[in-house]
Amino acid sequence: MVTATSPEQKVKIGQTKLLINNEWVESVSGKRFETINPTTGEVICDVAEADAADVDKAVKAAKRAFEGGEWRNMSATRRGELLYKLADLIEQNIDELARLETLDNGKTLKDAYGDLHLVLRCYRYYAGWADKVHGKTIPINGPYLCYTRHEPVGVVGQIIPWNFPLLMQAWKLSPALATGNVVVMKTAEQTPLSALRVGELIVEAGFPPGVVNILSGYGPTAGAAIARHMDVDKLAFTGSTEVGHLVMEAAARSNLKRVTLELGGKSPNIVFADADMDAAIEGAHKSLFFNQGQCCNAGSRLFVEEKCYDEFVAKSVEKAKNRLVGDPFDSKTQQGPQVDRDQFDRVMNYIEAGMREGANMMCGGHRVGDRGYFIEPTVFANVTNDMTIAQEEIFGPVMSIIKFKDIEEAIHLANTTMYGLAAGVWTKDITKAHRVANSVRAGTVWVNCYHVFDAAAPFGGFKQSGMGRELGEYCLEHYTEVKTVTVQL
Ligand code: NAI
Ligand code: MG
Repeated sequence: MVTATSPEQKVKIGQTKLLINNEWVESVSGKRFETINPTTGEVICDVAEADAADVDKAVKAAKRAFEGGEWRNMSATRRGELLYKLADLIEQNIDELARLETLDNGKTLKDAYGDLHLVLRCYRYYAGWADKVHGKTIPINGPYLCYTRHEPVGVVGQIIPWNFPLLMQAWKLSPALATGNVVVMKTAEQTPLSALRVGELIVEAGFPPGVVNILSGYGPTAGAAIARHMDVDKLAFTGSTEVGHLVMEAAARSNLKRVTLELGGKSPNIVFADADMDAAIEGAHKSLFFNQGQCCNAGSRLFVEEKCYDEFVAKSVEKAKNRLVGDPFDSKTQQGPQVDRDQFDRVMNYIEAGMREGANMMCGGHRVGDRGYFIEPTVFANVTNDMTIAQEEIFGPVMSIIKFKDIEEAIHLANTTMYGLAAGVWTKDITKAHRVANSVRAGTVWVNCYHVFDAAAPFGGFKQSGMGRELGEYCLEHYTEVKTVTVQL
């Protein structure tokens, strides 16, 4: 269903330059690029385009901030206070930020607010950690005092994607800053605007110059320049598995910078016939269609037990048909546009592949409207795990439902993938639930729920879904080096 498009929404556009050393500057080349409103396909504005020379300037500013002065000597408590202050400023500007996010990304305004609540939680969670990261004293043999210090890694390069621009910025910035690092962040070329607005708030909060630098720009230019830079000590990347391989290779060829990767997924969501059926149908719908299907952890391989397969498919199709697609600013809308033309084309190609390989398209499959990048909620039944739509990340509103016989088969199929990001299981049988949770090779398993995120709960992938963990206490180890100090007594 399509909701009427409301009149052009007025959204305040903030900064469009690069943030380097707490100053807003044009790029060295003077180049700018356009960012598009995916709801209409029209240009919102242009922004300064960073390239290798700008990355170098930003890394130099960050390095200066790390090696001397205010940031280096700041107490851990004060670092935490700055993060709390930033969270307060984001909260004070939450309406403006949510609208900017919806304009640039196309997610519904309601979902943008949902993201922002997680953003606030994330900055505050790590603000609390700032003065609680410490080492150990170790009873080594001999007349020595031996202890460890957890020190910041140094200059951290962070490359983030477009599906959750503000949230990915928060996931990456907050643990890095809490532990005393300095950051050069490159945002996704599709969605530069909201991160720049947060950049203004970072300056307002009082972070010293050079501690946070924010660059808009493209992957193969600015992104690659960060990945191969000799003075970037650590790289944190979120995006496609394909680019994950590239940045890791660049790290290996340059200075062996530490690398953490949060990559793609093809997460199994397993429904047993003994589950609360209504909850499972609702959960499976949300696990796939949330955020236009543009979630690395989407439940994109939906395994349903033979005994309840037909009923499950029929009800899921009904739900998908009733999903409201339209203007993301409209409070009734459940699904906005895909983020850009490329993603739209990519998803449509996967829909064709599904039909070509013999899956049954039960609903959807078409573009919605004649402007913007809207796609009908689409459901494929009789999918087999070897089909392209069951193996590759679609990143769109396309549900693939696969039949299974018993728990052994479900576990086997769930693990037959190169990915290992997340999984879901729906059953009232506690033994089955735990057996699946233990057997699926994935970084997160949700039981009778899905997409439950909290800043305190670690998130990340097994296999080619990445390495390292974001969020929670586990993330801190990726932003600190352990130093062993031994003192003769
Ligand atoms: P991408 O991996 O190309 O982009 C993610 C980030 O990496 C962006 O900031 C981009 O500018 C940067 N990047 C691109 N090439 C780079 C390079 N050579 N060196 C350094 N940085 C580089 O993803 P894209 O093209 O936007 O989407 C393609 C597919 O990737 C999606 O359809 C989806 O399957 C997957 N993806 C997964 C995400 C996740 O959350 N894990 C997020 C975005 C995309
Ligand atoms: Mg790309």
